[in-house]
Amino acid sequence: MSLAPRRAVAALAAVLLAGGMAACGNSDTGTDEGGSGDGKIVMGFSQVGAESGWRTANTNSIKEAAAEAGIELKFDDAQQKQENQIKAIRNYIQQKVDVIAFSPVVESGWDTVLKEAKDAGIPVILTDRAVDSADKSLYKTFLGSDFVKEGRLSGEWLVEQMKSATGDVNIVELQGTTGSAPANDRKKGFGEAIAADPKLKVIASQSGDFTRAGGKQVMEQFLKAHPKIDVLFAHNDDMGLGALEAITAAGKEPGKDIVIITIDAVKDGMQALADGKFNFIAECSPLLGPQLMELAKKVHAGEEVPPRIETEETTFTQEQAKEALPNRKY
Ligand code: AHR
Repeated sequence: MSLAPRRAVAALAAVLLAGGMAACGNSDTGTDEGGSGDGKIVMGFSQVGAESGWRTANTNSIKEAAAEAGIELKFDDAQQKQENQIKAIRNYIQQKVDVIAFSPVVESGWDTVLKEAKDAGIPVILTDRAVDSADKSLYKTFLGSDFVKEGRLSGEWLVEQMKSATGDVNIVELQGTTGSAPANDRKKGFGEAIAADPKLKVIASQSGDFTRAGGKQVMEQFLKAHPKIDVLFAHNDDMGLGALEAITAAGKEPGKDIVIITIDAVKDGMQALADGKFNFIAECSPLLGPQLMELAKKVHAGEEVPPRIETEETTFTQEQAKEALPNRKY
């Protein structure tokens, strides 16, 4: 080919490229360059881990919804480690996925990697848990629960239950993963609600890392250190279920000698509630997959999405759990 036609081809390519970029809208819109090659949107998802029944249901929801929406999902389990999540996100950036979604294990320390994604023009969606970045332009939206509200609803229920109690009501708290949004927020909401009644006292509070094993181990320590425990507030069902074993082994009757409040409402937790071993659960829905895929399509298309999308949730007493249990999907 002579020089002149070669220049003409290069010029035409440049025009086509510029046209293509303009059609994409802004630079945050996903690029097809590193996409699936068959026109499918490619999502890189970094999951917290597999620490609880809630997490398993959440992972299933995301995988099923991606398949249903025709989105190619690259999935990574970070085993509750922030450094693994950062590594996974960097891999997704390198692979030029169209959208990155993740559930941040802790709230702090994300700005650098989020900035890298932004600079690469890859939109990020936060799901389930939030980050505390001051720069809200680092992600497109946050889809998930109001954890403060879950804690508050738990505390308000307790205030009501204990209104005619005489003397101090000793509460122990099993916190979720240290530094995570649900641990921080549930503690805050619960604390604010029980402040309404000065006889409600949190006498011990420690992390059980959202796992059954952690819940059991920390509850054993609480029982040894504190002869009078009236209430357990566990930041999730799994830690509550682990604590049940410790309470029974200590010769106490869960749900009667110790009032138990948890969060999530997964099947095992609902069963414990229906059986009278738990007393109250504030729901936290893990079924975020379908909404997440909808959002991924929108941000990929360059459409505006609301900065915060809150999950709809309810609460359960023992009677309500008995009714709901037969239809509980997870
Ligand atoms: O972020 C949601 C929380 O994480 C759930 O309440 C808990 O069970 C999970 O591990």
